[in-house]
Amino acid sequence: MAVQRTISIIKPDAVAKNVIGAIYNRFETTGLKIVAAKMLHLSREQAEGFYAEHKERPFFKALVDFMTSGPVMVQVLEGENAVLKNREIMGATNPAQALAGTLRADYAASIDENAVHGSDSEESAAREIAYFFTETEVCARTR
Ligand code: PPS
Repeated sequence: MAVQRTISIIKPDAVAKNVIGAIYNRFETTGLKIVAAKMLHLSREQAEGFYAEHKERPFFKALVDFMTSGPVMVQVLEGENAVLKNREIMGATNPAQALAGTLRADYAASIDENAVHGSDSEESAAREIAYFFTETEVCARTR
């Protein structure tokens, strides 16, 4: 499997719990490198644009309300099979179904406030990386 990049977002609930470092530790111990990062307080326009594919779903407004309720930490992760590896570390969307030891099992309270986002495919990752970062903001890490 080739080296991939993916987007991770530490959502407002997890930032408020002060677990950014603990989550970064999970990425690093799983072999994922952080190659770009920024803290942002998303505007409604930014959140609605990011989740545009879900705009007809019943939870869309609640999702945008939540994602704009406080700062988020957005990072690009790089590594072998990074898209799937990050999804495995995150656990199921609904924390009630997330495996023990996953980020959502450890830090998420509910499906509405589920601690982290991760790109679900290489195509989504490319779009999501470009949504938050310019090319020069993503660093090449050679070691
Ligand atoms: S996923 O992760 O894309 O496979 O899950 P999906 O079910 O398609 O959900 C898309 C995003 O919407 C969030 N979500 C919800 N938010 C609020 N309330 C409810 N009920 C709800 N259900 C799903 C879910 O966490 C996904 O957000 P991200 O940021 O991609 O994890």
